[in-house]
Amino acid sequence: MSLPNSVHIVEVGPRDGLQNEPNAVPTAVKLELIHRLADAGLTSIEATSFVSPKWVPQMGDHTAVMQGLQRKPGVAYPVLVPNMKGMEAAVAAGADEIAVFAAATERFSQRNINCSIAESLERFRPVVELAKANGIRIRGYISVVVGCPYEGEVDPQAVAGIARDLVAMGCYQISLGDTIGVGTPGKIQAMIGAVANRVPMQRLALHTHDTWGQALANIYAALETGITTIDSSVAGLGGCPYAKGASGNVATEDVLYMLNGLGIRTGVDLDQVFAAGRFICAQIGRTPSSRVSQAKAARQSA
Ligand code: HMG
Ligand code: MG
Repeated sequence: MSLPNSVHIVEVGPRDGLQNEPNAVPTAVKLELIHRLADAGLTSIEATSFVSPKWVPQMGDHTAVMQGLQRKPGVAYPVLVPNMKGMEAAVAAGADEIAVFAAATERFSQRNINCSIAESLERFRPVVELAKANGIRIRGYISVVVGCPYEGEVDPQAVAGIARDLVAMGCYQISLGDTIGVGTPGKIQAMIGAVANRVPMQRLALHTHDTWGQALANIYAALETGITTIDSSVAGLGGCPYAKGASGNVATEDVLYMLNGLGIRTGVDLDQVFAAGRFICAQIGRTPSSRVSQAKAARQSA
């Protein structure tokens, strides 16, 4: 097992981070956050979700976000899409990349998108076809890959089967989501190993939430297996409204600090991500949960 020379970071803060905020975040603030993250060197920035505003009102301004984007060349702004209604709106809003999202357990699938796993995959088929017809790249998420708030332990083979189906459909990458952050390094490696038997390793990404404080250890373990794409959220914002107890994503600042220390290239500037995190947290009245952000702030004020 060896570590990669470079890692691609998928920044999910403007979507996963802000979808769980109790108060509405103005569209202009979301746009400033996205623009700051792009200026920091991030080249995949999940911008919003085309989900039902009745389910997730925080993402109800999706079209205004997409229309207000000052797109930077070389930066992708993926959006979540659950069904054809969302897909049609995403195409109309000029999305360049979408993410469909499935779950590894039936009960989580029902809670999150109100259908079974098999129904969700059937729903994604026309979505993916419309994306392909419009030259839009498609990423696939699988949630609760190592533990589910409703079903407990998750069978890695179930994750592997869904990953294979999503790749066969046309997803260029599968992001494996530890939605409630219960994974530990050994379990994460075993799950990745099972999935990598069905899907090439270079198509896999890891998406961690830090609920149980395991995220950085899990990311390191994933890098050892050969994964080179990591999802993270500026300031550690985030959580899924349909996953009881799901707290923030691993913080982009914390991932960058670890990768910088390991000499692994990302092309992302930690100081600028730190400033973007301070900006959004000031806007929404939070303290960054990122330990690196807290430590940098303490050093600055010392
Ligand atoms: P449903 O209620 O079963 O949908 O929701 P429906 O098809 O029966 O339609 C009901 C109403 O919603 C209709 O309106 C539709 O038009 C409307 P009405 O006739 O009543 O006025 N509707 C929509 N409106 C706007 N955009 C749409 C849309 N679809 C239907 N796309 C649905 C099913 C999938 C829509 C709903 O369950 C939903 O929006 N779920 C999204 C939940 C969500 O966003 N969860 C968080 C993201 S996933 C996550 O965070 C995990 C991740 O980070 C990875 C990880 O951590 O593991 C990705
Ligand atoms: Mg998530």
